[in-house]
Amino acid sequence: MKFTVLTFGCQMNVHDSDWLIRAMESRGWTAVDESEANIFVINTCSVRDKPEQKVYSVLGRLAPLCKNTGDFVAVGGCVAQQIGDGFLEKFPHVRLVFGSDGIAQAPAALEDLAQNHEKRLVLNDFLSEYPEREGGEVLPNTDLLPPGIGTIPGQAFVNIMQGCDNFCAYCIVPYTRGRQKSRSSEAIINECKSLVKAGIREITLLGQNVNSFGIDKKGKDLSFAELLYKISDINGLERIRFTTSHPKDIAPEVVRAFGELHNLCPSLHLPVQSGSDNILKKMGRKYDRTRYLQIVDDLRKACPDIALTTDLIVGFPGETDEDFEQTMDIMERVRYESSFSFKYSDRPGVAAVKMQPKVSEDVAQSRLARLQERQKSITRESLDDLVEREMVILLERPSRRQPSGGISWRGKDMGGRVVNVYFAGYTDEKTLGGKMVKVKIIEAKNHSLIGAKVGEPW
Ligand code: SAH
Ligand code: SF4
Ligand code: F3S
Repeated sequence: MKFTVLTFGCQMNVHDSDWLIRAMESRGWTAVDESEANIFVINTCSVRDKPEQKVYSVLGRLAPLCKNTGDFVAVGGCVAQQIGDGFLEKFPHVRLVFGSDGIAQAPAALEDLAQNHEKRLVLNDFLSEYPEREGGEVLPNTDLLPPGIGTIPGQAFVNIMQGCDNFCAYCIVPYTRGRQKSRSSEAIINECKSLVKAGIREITLLGQNVNSFGIDKKGKDLSFAELLYKISDINGLERIRFTTSHPKDIAPEVVRAFGELHNLCPSLHLPVQSGSDNILKKMGRKYDRTRYLQIVDDLRKACPDIALTTDLIVGFPGETDEDFEQTMDIMERVRYESSFSFKYSDRPGVAAVKMQPKVSEDVAQSRLARLQERQKSITRESLDDLVEREMVILLERPSRRQPSGGISWRGKDMGGRVVNVYFAGYTDEKTLGGKMVKVKIIEAKNHSLIGAKVGEPW
């Protein structure tokens, strides 16, 4: 069968889609472009209204493409969990809906529906344990996802948990992904070991709130810090990252790990959401700005070079000009290397829907623009500071712009910054993916760096 997967949302969705593609390929299906596909899987995101609306527009676009008997659409991910049966009722070309835990059964369901054209299915039950996924470990078609694992050569994501128990007032994730369920540390460590054996050099541990890993197991398994130390010990693993961290749960041992573990990347995404105590309280974040700034201080003491990034929401219900100024102020104090910032978006069923007064679209828009403008200059300044520095880059793919007389590759340093590297006299592009190279930074751009190669890649 020829199929395609369209992915929206966070890294967890990207990783879920990668897994699904591998699982279907190992069952003999072929991943193709949308124009050639018979079966379309949409992996959806519901975190704000915009990505949810996108699902309906994609479904409209796909309807005329399902022209042969047996062609159909499967909707997975967070909007699938949220809307469920509604997709079957409204869209005749949708025959499978699978939610967050349902994905483990999606490969078998896709095969079943491809055989039985009358059938339609919804896999939306939440399970009480983290569902281990079968199949999808090996990819026969190595051209598609080099070098067989993950979409970026040399790098892989590993799920360590599913769901979230925090119920931040604005957030739909606890409803779409269900309660927190940590995966067993044994399964995680085994997966990491086999990835490293297969040539993976960088692993990113994934979860909505990795710092509370293990809490649902009530002490019967490792804590997140213990897990990090165990994974760090895997011979040959050169880089470890993890995302996302909730500031309220970051343990002192995890902060310490940044100073102690040689392969733990000096970079942390630590969503602050707002700099105002008043708003943080209404959001239910369970830390205040003093505590947040203390964590930042501790992190910088443990690891002076740590690159911090964040998520910010403007226009949360009741946000005043003074509240917003506090957000601008925390940006100045932390000097995030980059940030994702959003206008608050009402989501069905979350606590903030009922909170008043709502901030007008105009005010939210102008706050967002001001915040993003400031971030742009902080990003630029922090990148400028890195000129002349030597760093090791893990190469990902050819750069968008190619120079003459050689090739340019894009990769990341340990801090997660994008660096483009020029390889004079090189012509064979494919050999560089997943390699490391030492560079000296010669120029800073708005969002990336340019490095000159020092020595040969390995
Ligand atoms: N688990 C992660 C975040 C997942 S959602 C964490 O706790 O940090 C990713 C980001 O989307 C959030 O950090 C938040 O900044 C943003 N977000 C979530 N719900 C939102 C909403 N209703 N409106 C605007 N932004 C939202
Ligand atoms: Fe959403 Fe908060 Fe959970 Fe993050 S911690 S997923 S923002 S409820
Ligand atoms: Fe979106 Fe679901 Fe991820 S709502 S951000 S895809 S957890």
